[in-house]
Amino acid sequence: MKQLDVCLTPDLLHLHKLDNSIVVVADIFRATSCMVTGLAYGVKSITPVASVEECKFLQDKGYIAAAERDARKVEGFDLDNSPFSYMHESLIGAQIAMTTTNGTLSISKAKSSAVKVMIGSFLNLGALANHLKSEPYDVLVLCAGWKGRPNLEDTLFAGALAEALKDQFMLLEDGTLMAQRLYQQSRDNLLASVSNSSHVRRLQRLGIQKDISYCLQTDLYDVVPVLRGSTLVSMN
Ligand code: MLT
Repeated sequence: MKQLDVCLTPDLLHLHKLDNSIVVVADIFRATSCMVTGLAYGVKSITPVASVEECKFLQDKGYIAAAERDARKVEGFDLDNSPFSYMHESLIGAQIAMTTTNGTLSISKAKSSAVKVMIGSFLNLGALANHLKSEPYDVLVLCAGWKGRPNLEDTLFAGALAEALKDQFMLLEDGTLMAQRLYQQSRDNLLASVSNSSHVRRLQRLGIQKDISYCLQTDLYDVVPVLRGSTLVSMN
């Protein structure tokens, strides 16, 4: 039987064998929520890069470039990291380069050793879970966290995916069981369960509120982003 595991922060990724695993990267506030939203609204592809310099390089080559550090848009780039910025008609068919504080770094760390890298959010939870049931591989949910520390919302998502796949995957490690129990206790009011989390407070200090409730909505889209080479595209 396949196994689903949870890595609470990229700094612990070295503890996991990935040679038979699909890595699902989760950065709920807000990188992976942006990626899913953009692809659902018709963005052609998203190229995640770890550094601002790499993002600038692609911008100079004609990509629309999204850059965020510490929840703020980086000066000189086209898009910030609000999912609402990815809903515009002008982005239909666009190739986007993206760098964020934690989410794209997590993708960069996983892509060299995972069988596949896929993108998870509450927004595409059901579609992602259904796809993973059809794959022969184990799954590692990689929580992007914040600068090496775990966070509530990514762990909550990991628990939600574990709960959705508990009949098809073995859930053995304590980190996975912690995430699952967190979700079981929080599922009826996700917003309340993260209301005092560090990144919610950070976003609110910046006047960002509507992104929070948006990113916690479940099953808005059926897109399942997968990394093909260095670029994310929708599988369906
Ligand atoms: C991250 O990479 O941690 C997030 O995308 C940051 C944010 O969007 O606020």
